[in-house]
Amino acid sequence: MSQASVRAFAPGRVNLIGEHTDYNDGLCLPFAIERGVTVSAEPLPGGDQIEAHALDLSEHDSFPLAAGLRPPERARDGWRPFVRGAIAELRGAGVEPPPCRVEIEGDLPRGAGLASSAALSVALCMALCAVAGAETLERLALARLCSRIENDWSGRETGLLDQLASLYGQARRAVRIDMRGPELRPVELDLAGHVLVTLDSGASRSLAGSGYNERRRECRRAAAALGLDSLRDAPAEALVRLPEPLRRRVRHVLSENERVDAAVAALGRGDLAEVGRLLDASHRSLRDDYEVSVPEVERAVTACKAAGALGARILGGGFGGSVLAFFPPGAEPPPGSVVVEPALGARLLTI
Ligand code: GLA
Repeated sequence: MSQASVRAFAPGRVNLIGEHTDYNDGLCLPFAIERGVTVSAEPLPGGDQIEAHALDLSEHDSFPLAAGLRPPERARDGWRPFVRGAIAELRGAGVEPPPCRVEIEGDLPRGAGLASSAALSVALCMALCAVAGAETLERLALARLCSRIENDWSGRETGLLDQLASLYGQARRAVRIDMRGPELRPVELDLAGHVLVTLDSGASRSLAGSGYNERRRECRRAAAALGLDSLRDAPAEALVRLPEPLRRRVRHVLSENERVDAAVAALGRGDLAEVGRLLDASHRSLRDDYEVSVPEVERAVTACKAAGALGARILGGGFGGSVLAFFPPGAEPPPGSVVVEPALGARLLTI
């Protein structure tokens, strides 16, 4: 039976380290943050449509529920494909959202590398399951479903990192994700008075239009050239067999996987200076080997280092977006920096 009005919240994420490894079956270390997307859904008795409202943008969309929904032929920017994709993918999973009014709002900047699109799809699906009177899907299945919305309906060939981070967030902890499986393990984030901040570079990015999908293609080509299913298994000696730029791309993936476990170990022994060095090394690798940085991001990294950051690096998919920086106690991060801390994952809210 469908419900009265329901509300769901899904957070964005920060990835401490382990970038562009998720779609290579690799390792990452994200945490959910406080800011996110809230979706409310209210049945429209007697109606036959979904009426969706993106409140922050003052934009609307509506479509008949009876219509067979199909993914668009070409990648579409914006929030609308997510609503259609959520309805269609949930139906495929046996959940039948009723005609309803959906309202979307949030405090997560879009295009800033904080996983606003994953937060949107997770909050949408949770609210639509609830308004359908269905149990929310099991979290891993929901993460995969949300990733299909992003891949097939919005044209962004992203991995599972953002959805898992949004769904499995815990206070005071990051989560080490081994995408093979995937296997998730909480990691205490005891920063002893240090702070992590994000600083928006000002260069907004659209994943679909950016080089992100191209990097994915390069990884597939490199794996095929090495006769592997995934770059996770690439032996370091095999790099010499690859032409450039594939050699550099694989070198990033392999070294970044190592940095994730080095960061987990450094956190475990309270060696926060080493965490900073690893963030710097990750940035160099993302800039030089993976080539996902842009001048605005370099300026933001330089500003953070000049302000005394122990480490600073580009965050998320790259080609713009935010920088993540790690400051010791007493330092003054550059103006515009926002402190980020691990927070609870996606959930239904009481009205
Ligand atoms: C984006 C994608 C993720 C991941 C990161 C890079 O955030 O959505 O799947 O690939 O980029 O680590």
